[in-house]
Amino acid sequence: MNKATVSAPGKLMLLGEHAVVYGYPCIVTAISQRLEVSVSTIDDIPMDRRFIDAAIQAWGDGKDYLFSIKSAFSGKYGFGSSAAVTVATLKTMRPTVENRVLFDAAYKIVLDVQGIGSGFDVAASTYGGTLYFVAAGKIIEPLSVQEVPLIVGYTGVKADTTSLIKQVAEKKEKNPEKVERIFQAIAKLVEDVKPRMLEGDWERVGKLMDFNQEYLRDLGVSSEKLEALISAAKKAGAWGAKLSGAGGGDCMIALGSGEKRDAIQKAIADAGGQVIDVQPNAEGVRVEI
Ligand code: PMV
Repeated sequence: MNKATVSAPGKLMLLGEHAVVYGYPCIVTAISQRLEVSVSTIDDIPMDRRFIDAAIQAWGDGKDYLFSIKSAFSGKYGFGSSAAVTVATLKTMRPTVENRVLFDAAYKIVLDVQGIGSGFDVAASTYGGTLYFVAAGKIIEPLSVQEVPLIVGYTGVKADTTSLIKQVAEKKEKNPEKVERIFQAIAKLVEDVKPRMLEGDWERVGKLMDFNQEYLRDLGVSSEKLEALISAAKKAGAWGAKLSGAGGGDCMIALGSGEKRDAIQKAIADAGGQVIDVQPNAEGVRVEI
């Protein structure tokens, strides 16, 4: 294996979380915060690093590779560090691999380790941009959107994705028709939002995000803190705002025009959120050197 450094972006879910686990579509965007994986053969490492070699041989799987990981974002934000590290690490070993092959391999690993997940985060890390995505990569459609006027607020609370997915599954078990109706309504929002995003009608996209948030609330995955940040952003003039990802914590997102951005960010901070500077629609996995 040659020496290689590969970086992959994190992600934010724009619309369609939870429903996507049940085969409905979602929209995800790759973000400017990236995670970098470097790999080198033992031959490339200076002599003193042989101590590391010895340590890896003692507890490792016997292969002579050294991986190091650098991330521009903390795992606590819910930006998809597990998917990004899986995609980037695989690509260090096959730098010219096709995206589809990479996606399938990375998704399989994420499923093996995590047991559950639609793979939207793996798709964002692999392909980048903004994607219309159906679970397990049945559809991965890049959307050529121009500048998404996104504002991101972190609640300070780490979401537990697996238990929130379970919580929704239990709700569905108890109340299958109601939950199925919610999923179908979310899926319709995702279909409606697609052309609006392509046209750059962010005001309408914001409205559809608001509707999506109502359904997420009905599913029981919002939280007081998320609601506080969402309502602060909206009072400050956001076109729309919702939780992003599993819910329970992590981040909320809002859309807002240029002149309102400062006010929206201040409102989120005043409500106890941490505004994170995130550029959406970022490039997918890439070889750095
Ligand atoms: O918690 P996150 O940011 O990884 O988002 C989870 C989104 C879900 O739709 C709930 C799960 C999934 O894998 O799609």
